[in-house]
Amino acid sequence: MAEIEIQNVTKTFSGSKQPAVNDVSLRVRDGEFMVLLGPSGCGKTTLLRMLAGLDFPDSGQIVIGGNDVTALPPRQRQIAMVFQSYAIFPHLTVFENIAFGLRMRREPNDAVKPKVERAAAMLNLEAFLGRYPAQLSGGQRQRVAVARAIVMEPKVLLMDEPLSNLDALLRLNFRAELKKLVQELGATTIYVTHDQVEALSLGNRIAVMRTGEIVQCAAPMQVYDRPATEFVGSFIGNPPMNFLYGQLEWRGGAMRLVFGDHGLNLPGTYPIPDRRMVLVGVRAENIEALAEPTPQALPARAEVVEPLGSHLLITATLGQQSVKIVAKTDFPAFPAQPIWLRPEVDKLRWFDTETRREISSV
Ligand SMILES: Nc1ncnc2c1ncn2[C@@H]1O[C@H](COP(=O)(O)OP(=O)(O)O)[C@@H](O)[C@H]1O
Ligand SMILES: [Mg+2]
Repeated sequence: MAEIEIQNVTKTFSGSKQPAVNDVSLRVRDGEFMVLLGPSGCGKTTLLRMLAGLDFPDSGQIVIGGNDVTALPPRQRQIAMVFQSYAIFPHLTVFENIAFGLRMRREPNDAVKPKVERAAAMLNLEAFLGRYPAQLSGGQRQRVAVARAIVMEPKVLLMDEPLSNLDALLRLNFRAELKKLVQELGATTIYVTHDQVEALSLGNRIAVMRTGEIVQCAAPMQVYDRPATEFVGSFIGNPPMNFLYGQLEWRGGAMRLVFGDHGLNLPGTYPIPDRRMVLVGVRAENIEALAEPTPQALPARAEVVEPLGSHLLITATLGQQSVKIVAKTDFPAFPAQPIWLRPEVDKLRWFDTETRREISSV
């Protein structure tokens, strides 16, 4: 097992002005499952390839298990990598595909067989060991790619969007299996994805990346509930967090959040000056929809009502601003009709209107 330490790593590809990875520092604990999450092009693969030794940083250091591996080739890093495209050999059987790395290491035959069989069992591939990749489904091929990585008993497992080529149902099932598998293995894992649901589901922690930088690194529910920036709140969660302009007012020692002619009394006070405009972050499920005027509820107008099976998703307008609310399926909402919105005031988050960062409430 191994801790991974990435220290101030920067990489700019030749011909590019913007660094693909820009001064990234990250410590991944021994046995931790760390997810790198971010939109396409934000530098996830580049960072992972530098961890694997397939690319090298312009500056900064990578330390794995206490050894500085920054300049070491892949085979000296005790890592295994699973790519997005399964990259398995078409001319080898499943058994030989899984055994490939062990053979390269010149492990004796009688050691290879039980190891391959154990890895195959962990991925439900026992019945397919004699088949060729062309005789497998996409999901089975991706299992072979994962089996081939774990059979090496790596200290560090790196995975780059391993589920993205699978259809939705397979992805859902394989995600849960992968989580169980990695828990059993105990290897330090870094998992790259642009899928926020995957990130929430799998990670012990999530490092959210944007344009080559890590914006926030925290436990899944922490990034969900307390996004550090508007970008994180919008990227994580479906629907994205609502962001509304409002004004904070002090009234006789208490604070009030005001939207136009209406306002909410706040339970606490925040180190924010009187009459300051803020960007208020609030999740759709933290706003209660009401059919009648109620204290601490803001009048709004339902615009779109979407039944989504387990709940209703209502898009409403509050003044000129659009806001999404999750309601029970039997809530009577109709387009162009008034509704009242009661946010859970202790779930409101404050963001600076310029920097779009959370205003840290002491
Ligand atoms: N080999 C390369 N040469 C030049 N630019 C590259 C190369 N690989 C990636 N890039 C650029 O670096 C940035 C980050 O890419 P990448 O790490 O693949 O992002 P992600 O995996 O998050 O989608 C992108 O702007 C991409 O175009
Ligand atoms: Mg990528």
